[in-house]
This record gives sequence, structure tokens and C-alpha cells, in this order.
Amino acid sequence: MLSVMSTDELSRTTIRTDDHRAAARKPLLRRPWVVPLALLTVIFIGYAVPPYLTLDPARARIQPMPSHAAYYPLLVSHIFLGSVALLTACLQVWPWLRRSHPRVHRWSGRIYVGVALTASVCVMIISPMGLHGPNQRVANTMLAILWLGTTLAGFLAIRQRRYADHRRWMLRSFALAFSIVAFRLWMPVAFAVFVPEIYVGAEVDSAALGQVIGLTSWMSWVVNVLIVEWWLHRRPDT
Ligand code: HEM
Repeated sequence: MLSVMSTDELSRTTIRTDDHRAAARKPLLRRPWVVPLALLTVIFIGYAVPPYLTLDPARARIQPMPSHAAYYPLLVSHIFLGSVALLTACLQVWPWLRRSHPRVHRWSGRIYVGVALTASVCVMIISPMGLHGPNQRVANTMLAILWLGTTLAGFLAIRQRRYADHRRWMLRSFALAFSIVAFRLWMPVAFAVFVPEIYVGAEVDSAALGQVIGLTSWMSWVVNVLIVEWWLHRRPDT
């Protein structure tokens, strides 16, 4: 049955549409995260992924590699899928694209969910094989479980048209996905503070190295999650 809008409803809809258009037109300067995030992502992928493109285990940065036959295929799968996840996450948090091209947002969102869910299952299997001890293994396994859980929660929320919940869960999922970039930023700091001898080529105690890598693995996602929770608390509905 066709419904006729009251003048009030019509003006509210017009105002909302105008709000959206105005928000979509906001210059990138007012969205200070869009360009730096995209740049950081492209730089990270350009640096981290090439050694894995040849599919030659000898070129992997992780050496020695855990001996399990499934390790390398799962590592490479999660790296390729993770790269797509990071690139699509950049599209998802770009307000202009979200508002002006909702179909692109929907499709890149579906791709994000597909690759993130598959990648998180890959890393759930390889994380317990990490060579740097229980601290790193637990940090990465927790990260994988939370990445899967938040992505699934965000997907279910949008299927049930719970828009605010969808936004919250997806931002948490993106924060977890970007932990890999944060890890690369925290690592040199943690090395400089806790094992500075690594920079002068001196021998580093393997237990100490394991602790530092474990600590960095925790920081890489816990700090991101705290920042997102702070953001959601500050801007509950933007
Ligand atoms: C968010 C959940 C993720 C978890 C739990 C996770 C877990 C892991 C684990 C366990 C390793 C092996 C580390 C080792 O054994 O020392 C690894 C390596 C790696 N991951 Fe992830 N990862 C995640 C997301 C991503 C994403 C989104 C990317 C994006 C490309 C990515 C790219 C890489 C790369 C490039 C390596 C190899 C490291 C190197 O070459 O130095 N990961 N990850």
C-alpha cells in the first residue's frame, strides 16, 4: 500500500537528505583520518606483502618458519586476504563514499566481511604455532578470535538493520585489522626501549626478544581498541 507523507515527514526527510549531502561535501581536511589512513595502508602493503608474492617460503620474513606443512599456505592466505581487508576498510570509513555511493559501500563491505572472516580463521590456526613464546601466541590468538567476532557482529547487525550497532562493531573490527600496521609502528619503539642491542648487531637473548614481541603483539591491538572505544564514547552517533 502506498503511503502519503505528511508535510512534517517530508520536511524531516528533506532536512536529513540535506544533512547527508552537506556531510558528504565536508572537505577531506575535516576528515583528517581518510588520507593518512589510506597512505599508511598502501605503504604498509607495499612494504610487507612483496616477499610473499612469489609463494616461495624461503623469501618469507618469518625465518625460521614453524615446521607445520600448513603454516606457510595459511600465512600467505591471511596476508593476501588481510591486504584486501585493509584496503576495503579504508573505503568503508570514507564518509563521502559511504554517503554518495552506498552501493560501493555495500559491495566493499561484503568483500571486507568475506576476507576478514576467512583471514581470521587462517590466523586462528597459525597463531598458536608462533615461535616467540606463549605471550605472542595468546595475543595473536585472542586478536584472531576478536577479529572474527566483531566482524560477524557487525555483519549480523546490518542484516537486522541495526545501523548504530553495525557502525560500532565494524569500527572495532577495523581497529583489530589495523593492528598489523600498529605492530610495525610499535616494534621499533619496543626494540629501542627493551632490546636496544638489536640495533648494533649484538646478540639478543631469545627469551627477552620473545617477551618484547609478545608485548608488542598485545599493544598492537589493545591500544587500537582503546582508541576506538574512546572515539565511540565521544562520538556515539556520527
Ligand atoms: C587481525 C588479525 C591478525 C592476526 C591475528 C594475525 C596474525 C599473524 C601471525 C600469527 C603472523 C605470524 C607471526 C609470526 O609467526 O611471527 C602474522 C604475520 C603477518 N601478517 Fe598477520 N595477522 C592479522 C591480520 C593481518 C592483516 C590484516 C594483514 C594485512 C596484510 C597481515 C599481514 C601479515 C604479514 C605481512 C605477516 C608476515 C610478517 C612479516 O613478513 O614480517 N596480518 N600475522
